[in-house]
Amino acid sequence: SVIKSSLIEPDGGVVVDLVVPESERELKTVEAESMPRVNLTNIDLEWVHVISEGWASPLKGFMRENEYLQSLHFNCLKTKDGSLVNMSLPIVLAIHDETKERIGSSTNVGLVGPDGELIGILRSIEIYNHNKEERIARTWGTTAPGLPYVDEVITLAGNWLIGGDLEVLKPIKYNDGLDHYRLSPQQLRKEFDRRQADAVFAFQLRNPVHNGHALLMNDTRRRLLEMGFKNPILLLHPLGGFTKADDVPLDVRMEQHSKVLEDGVLDPETTIVSIFPSPMHYAGPTEVQWHAKARVNAGANFYIVGRDPAGMGHPTEKRDLYDPDHGKKVLSMAPGLEKLNILPFRVAAYDTVEKKMAFFDPSRAKEFLFISGTKMRTYAKTGENPPDGFMCPGGWKVLVNYYKSLQSE
Ligand code: ADX
Repeated sequence: SVIKSSLIEPDGGVVVDLVVPESERELKTVEAESMPRVNLTNIDLEWVHVISEGWASPLKGFMRENEYLQSLHFNCLKTKDGSLVNMSLPIVLAIHDETKERIGSSTNVGLVGPDGELIGILRSIEIYNHNKEERIARTWGTTAPGLPYVDEVITLAGNWLIGGDLEVLKPIKYNDGLDHYRLSPQQLRKEFDRRQADAVFAFQLRNPVHNGHALLMNDTRRRLLEMGFKNPILLLHPLGGFTKADDVPLDVRMEQHSKVLEDGVLDPETTIVSIFPSPMHYAGPTEVQWHAKARVNAGANFYIVGRDPAGMGHPTEKRDLYDPDHGKKVLSMAPGLEKLNILPFRVAAYDTVEKKMAFFDPSRAKEFLFISGTKMRTYAKTGENPPDGFMCPGGWKVLVNYYKSLQSE
């Protein structure tokens, strides 16, 4: 008998799966070998991974100009039936002049990975102008110098964008010992069904888990149980693609997250830890919509959002790039995300009286301590412990070792 899943519908109705069936792999590989080639960077490959597994469903490839314009101007894509799905970041592939010339009038191209391996095919292609300034200004709301994704990706990229339907010859693997954490939206949905989850709440992060983060997650679980759900499952979903140089690398974060579960800060019985393969833009309220939308496709119907999601300090001024409250406000109103329950949270900080992480109470502001990433690094470097109750000891140890290893470089 077929058990019907009770999980939230993916955008567009079905999770896109663009990995060619094994039986067709050989034939398609031969076909791809005859096509003009487009070389992918590591970050292009991360986007291939994202698209191929359906995180961006119903998107079926790198955006053509019409999709690019909808994403850039409306943060949405119009589906075949006329409804809107959210799509706040343009997912595009840039090529240089030489590549464009090489492609000529061909309809299809072969995609080649950074190590020379044939990765896939882009079909019925369309090549259009890559107006970088316009893309940057509309995505980030600023063209200030020093935006990590701009400096490390867009500035180096070509002046053309190539869109088309994607086919991937085999599942994308990184062989970094973490592939078992990289569950596709379909695999996650299967796992949620297997566990008979009646609610799935997602937590996006790119930082180590401190007890403030845990407070948000555990408070959500409590609220869901109060609402009458019997088996809410937490998707602890660290971002695994490109991050800026001073963020903690993925392998260290995964080790830290394991300790958080081992130390019992989060309940391993009701938590699934998995890697979200997307690169990070640091585009604040624009990007948090992408973060949430992708989790709908993976089966999450609740989404936790706190202070300054996907934000960072302004690259040249002494302030946050975005208003720290705008992420949750925008997400709660975002077109195409109406079916997702947004759980907005106040900022958590260290309560020096209660000696634990707690929701900030402005009436006794002086008793709260804000421990930033920079402050954490300083603690770790000087060998000083953060205040008791900030992070579980096992998790903190992982970070101390990491920061120490940086010092000796
Ligand atoms: S993000 O780029 O993935 O958003 P981060 O890993 O720092 O960055 O945050 C993960 C989630 O926790 C986001 O929803 C963010 O808003 C929330 N968050 C981070 N720090 C705090 C805090 N001190 N108080 C409340 N929410 C927070």
